[in-house]
Amino acid sequence: MSGAGIDALRAEHETILLVMDRLEDAARSAADGQIPPELVRAALDFIHIYVDGSHHAKEEGALFVAMAENRLLARLADTLTLDHDEGRMLVAAIERALLEERPATGPVLGYAAFIQHHIRRENEMVFDAVEKGLSEPILAELDARFREIESEVLGSDVTTRLLTQLDAAYERDGR
Ligand SMILES: [Fe+2]
Ligand SMILES: [Fe+2]
Repeated sequence: MSGAGIDALRAEHETILLVMDRLEDAARSAADGQIPPELVRAALDFIHIYVDGSHHAKEEGALFVAMAENRLLARLADTLTLDHDEGRMLVAAIERALLEERPATGPVLGYAAFIQHHIRRENEMVFDAVEKGLSEPILAELDARFREIESEVLGSDVTTRLLTQLDAAYERDGR
């Protein structure tokens, strides 16, 4: 059975991957190879609010908790939690670079590589196993919980604002 909530996480992965593509493209096409600080700041907002505040909150606050109850899925949940911690350390490195007015492109590209790998792991190894391993009522409960977390963190228009801000920073850079 497929879970609507798990499909929503898959769709969020696509949004995250599109933003990472843009960041990589900005680094590739800049004359000095550096992502403009304004775009880095817009990306940080997106990472804090959309990725960590909402998406990872759904995974850690609901999905991994349900996985921990399942003998076969518990270890995967532990691995993914460690991944998320690693991601936060990489985000801290981006913040440090900005604060110290150093180029943040290296840490941003490091984060992009990390999250691409993490998403691939979830898409290819975890979500199908979750849909097979968890019961229909639990999947339905997860869907409801995901909606709650999203409405607490993102409301109705925060995602659009974050993406518009990213677009504006990207376009302003002459693309
Ligand atoms: Fe994750
Ligand atoms: Fe994810």
